[in-house]
Amino acid sequence: MTTGAQLEAPIDGRGFARAICQALPGNTACSACLYPLYMAVIELGATRILELGTQHGHSAAALLFGAKETGGFVVSCDPFENPKTPAGLQDLGQADRWCFVKMRSQDLGPHWQTTLDLIFVDSSHKAKQTAEELELFAPHVRVGGQIYLHDTVSYEAGVWEPVVEYVERKPRQWDAVNHTEVQHGLGIMTRKAAVNPAE
Ligand SMILES: C[S@@+](CC[C@H](N)C(=O)[O-])C[C@H]1O[C@@H](n2cnc3c(N)ncnc32)[C@H](O)[C@@H]1O
Repeated sequence: MTTGAQLEAPIDGRGFARAICQALPGNTACSACLYPLYMAVIELGATRILELGTQHGHSAAALLFGAKETGGFVVSCDPFENPKTPAGLQDLGQADRWCFVKMRSQDLGPHWQTTLDLIFVDSSHKAKQTAEELELFAPHVRVGGQIYLHDTVSYEAGVWEPVVEYVERKPRQWDAVNHTEVQHGLGIMTRKAAVNPAE
């Protein structure tokens, strides 16, 4: 059994992802982005973190390891709930900074009010929905905050193209980089400036 104590200071990305995957149910397709997510939380000093698309909780765990260090909190949103995930997060020592919202992102978005430091998007991978998620949640990201999106290579049309379309409409507010070297692709959007009335 993997314990939180063993993972207090993850040594390298592979060991970190392996330990998370062993503690939680199911297989993950995003093991390559678990350590980058953890590091993103630390580097941004992120305390207000939102995840869209939770499934088994692997990425939630990575975000929570970071949140434990920053004193932050992670809200995960998914219309489906894996009943084994809370116990797995408990085994990892990562259940107390987590809130699971059993809901579709597009239903949560209109009610969202909290400013965010970091969002991780790993939901439907469909272009219309990704575009809706950006419209609903990106305005809540603080200047200097980021949005990470998984599968920008394996679902280029469903994930990366809507990112490009969004950023091209708001070039003063947003930058985006597609890390195609990460398995399945990892997009990173960075908020450069507050709302610009011209955009
Ligand atoms: C690829 S899995 C996420 C994997 C997860 N990040 C992990 O590390 O285990 C995609 C998830 O997105 C969820 N999803 C699909 N449509 C969604 C929506 N409209 N809002 C939120 N989540 C959604 C699915 O239920 C599924 O659990």
